[in-house]
Amino acid sequence: MVSVLDNDIKLGTRFIEDPYGVYAELRSTGPVRKVELPTGVRVWLVTDYAEARAALADPTLSKNVRKSADIIDRHLAPGAKRVDFSTSLSSHMLNTDPPNHTRLRKLVNKAFTAGGVDHLRPRIEAITEELLAGMDGAHEIDLLEAFAFPLPITVICEMLGVPIDDRDDFRSWSNQLLSNDRSEKLHNAAASMQTYLIGLIEAKRAEPSADLLSALIEASEDGDRLSGEELVSMAFLLLVAGHETTVNLIGNAMLGLLTRPDQLAALKADPTLLSGAIEEFLRYDGPVNLATFRLTTQPLVLGGTEIPADEFVVVAVTAANRDEARFPDADQLDVTRNAGGHLAFGHGIHYCVGAPLARMEAEIALGGLLSRFPNMTLAQDKDDLRWRNSMIRGLEELRVRPQG
Ligand code: HEM
Repeated sequence: MVSVLDNDIKLGTRFIEDPYGVYAELRSTGPVRKVELPTGVRVWLVTDYAEARAALADPTLSKNVRKSADIIDRHLAPGAKRVDFSTSLSSHMLNTDPPNHTRLRKLVNKAFTAGGVDHLRPRIEAITEELLAGMDGAHEIDLLEAFAFPLPITVICEMLGVPIDDRDDFRSWSNQLLSNDRSEKLHNAAASMQTYLIGLIEAKRAEPSADLLSALIEASEDGDRLSGEELVSMAFLLLVAGHETTVNLIGNAMLGLLTRPDQLAALKADPTLLSGAIEEFLRYDGPVNLATFRLTTQPLVLGGTEIPADEFVVVAVTAANRDEARFPDADQLDVTRNAGGHLAFGHGIHYCVGAPLARMEAEIALGGLLSRFPNMTLAQDKDDLRWRNSMIRGLEELRVRPQG
């Protein structure tokens, strides 16, 4: 249940299971509410579309949320622990304001534009084919483990030049870093990730190849373009953002389709709906939930609520995408809807760099799944679904019967 705590709402287990129900309750009380996150941090949560879009583009809201440990401490619930990320993982563009942000983003932007990722299409199709072939004949599988996870992680590892054999270690550290568990395990995962990336960069420095990480290392040799710390953070951000999101876009989309046979039938009957449907999957149940932190640098009035300086604002893009005022019948998945304008990739200067890659991966992945396994069914009860955490909207597993 949502419980009232002073004037804050504490978001607990129910929020992870049913964020949309909780958002609907919050929205009925106003577009901006002070809440306590499952991690114990107190923030202003923005749930309405118009205010969310305005906040994402507001230049007075800083992304440099790591600059001040005392601010973080002030917004912690009693007994909650601050996450003291080593700066060498967190000096990345998503935590940075202009002009630093502009400089960091420019270094990778070109590699991720629609034109920049187009040459990856045949390779993404080949990886998809191989993974689909591996599912042939299987009676029941976890679709995330067998398909939705290996696809984007292989693509981003190849793009950056990270050995694919290391992906399981990487996955477990990344999982720990995004979890609501603030224990020592989190610090250990951050330390392991950092040591791993530093070692990888050293190896690449000694033996460069035709990959993005080697190109970034070259940029770091001219210290004005990228410092050593920024290099490690960039590798970290691209690897985590490159696989923790698309896996859940594929997973949540398949869950939506397998629980809405009419929508699945519509898409199978007319595959030209697919690219529009991907926008709808992003709107309806997008992968990024509460990962969009900002910090007020001066008092701000948002949706009629005055927020003081030095307070955290979290834009719930998943909530904004279910705002009836912007998307009629917002709680319904409708693959024929024009979902343009959704905020699943953010908005403004931090708009997702990886959006063209994520869209291309999702299109190839979902198109492949639907044509190869048109009779696929869900092999678990809807009530038994387990969701991961409050940052990422994604399942622990998605059990399916590929042949129906
Ligand atoms: C930023 C969502 C896939 C790399 C963002 C933001 C969102 C987002 C909401 C903005 C956060 C904010 O403003 O606070 C998604 C979703 C994805 C996805 C829903 C998949 C369906 C990817 C991929 C990559 C990537 C595949 C590539 C490696 C990034 C980076 C940023 C970012 C580097 C920071 C951009 C900046 O600060 O200028 N993403 N993302 N994302 N995303 Fe994605």
